[in-house]
Amino acid sequence: MTYNFAEMFSRQVIAERVKELAVEINADYEGQEVVLVCILKGAAVFMSDLMRHLTVDVKVEYMQLCSYEGENSRGKIKMDLDVSDDIFGNNVIVVEDIIDTGGTIEFIRAHLMTKKPATVKFCVLLDNPVRRNEGCEKADYVGFVIPNQFVFGYGLDYNGKYRNLPYIAALTR
Ligand code: IMP
Ligand code: MG
Repeated sequence: MTYNFAEMFSRQVIAERVKELAVEINADYEGQEVVLVCILKGAAVFMSDLMRHLTVDVKVEYMQLCSYEGENSRGKIKMDLDVSDDIFGNNVIVVEDIIDTGGTIEFIRAHLMTKKPATVKFCVLLDNPVRRNEGCEKADYVGFVIPNQFVFGYGLDYNGKYRNLPYIAALTR
């Protein structure tokens, strides 16, 4: 099958925006400690760039989720890796690649809240709002709002590949 794609955000544009997000986080958490929770695999590239611009004290944690198609349900989420340390009483920032329906971040919040952190905020690189579940919370830090297109690169995959692209591309028809 053939497909076409076009660059949506260049590596320079991404780098500048990631730095701006870090500036916002540094200001909001000045003098505090944060636990960054990277959602694998998609947010690995974003998180590693973002955290190197942070000047607040950070600890890092990783969660891995996978969504699967059940017989009667679409987009059920399963956790393959949980945070390893106790986040009780901590300020948590979840770092995610993209919000589409919002099901993933709702799952993450519900899961993390059982561990009683002080605060949980979401930092997402991309926000595709068109298919958002009604009543879904908004992310606190958003890199770019995108049109309803499938995107990949800079950590995001297309059928498991292209996470290593230094830019973000969109499938075109
Ligand atoms: P949601 O649960 O519908 O918000 O979907 C979010 C998850 O689906 C993200 O963590 C991504 O792993 C994946 N996803 C959604 N849209 C895209 C896309 O355009 N490209 C790559 N992955 C995507
Ligand atoms: Mg993901």
